[in-house]
Amino acid sequence: MVKAIEMLVEEHKNILRVTEAIERECEQISSGKTVNEDFFTKVIDFIRNYADKLHHAKEEDILFKEFLKQAEQGRVHCNPIEQMLYEHDVGRSYVKALEEGVKESNKEKITKNALGYAGLIRGHIFKEDNVLYPMSEQALSKKTFENIQKAFTKINEKNKNEIEKYAGFARESEKEGEK
Ligand SMILES: [Fe+2]
Ligand SMILES: [Fe+2]
Repeated sequence: MVKAIEMLVEEHKNILRVTEAIERECEQISSGKTVNEDFFTKVIDFIRNYADKLHHAKEEDILFKEFLKQAEQGRVHCNPIEQMLYEHDVGRSYVKALEEGVKESNKEKITKNALGYAGLIRGHIFKEDNVLYPMSEQALSKKTFENIQKAFTKINEKNKNEIEKYAGFARESEKEGEK
């Protein structure tokens, strides 16, 4: 796997750690636990700033653009980008509705949208890891990937503290589940 793709897959792992925590929390709510609004506020912050601002931006502004250049020249056998962008948007709507749910202390709205997001992002990550990323590795040149890696590294350096904070939240979420 090229380094740039490895970096994205690592981010997926953190997103999945938080996804698992969301599912666990919703399961506990359905068995009668009170809603932990603080947890969902942290989840919303994580999704908006880590999953969306950092991870999806790397995809949308960098990797997908390079992929589209290859697609326009007929160098790929199918083009999943439109579907991937659509799913990023669906994710954003779930998070918006989840935020409303938290503000309204509406248990049903919280769990419905949190689980909606969790299911969507699991499927989305599966498709990227198993279809889009391998296709990109075949279609994009070594040189292009070197440039992508440089751009990703620059973003990571610029957002070093934020990334450390969110990766920490993901690790903690995972530990919570092991208790
Ligand atoms: Fe994506
Ligand atoms: Fe992704």
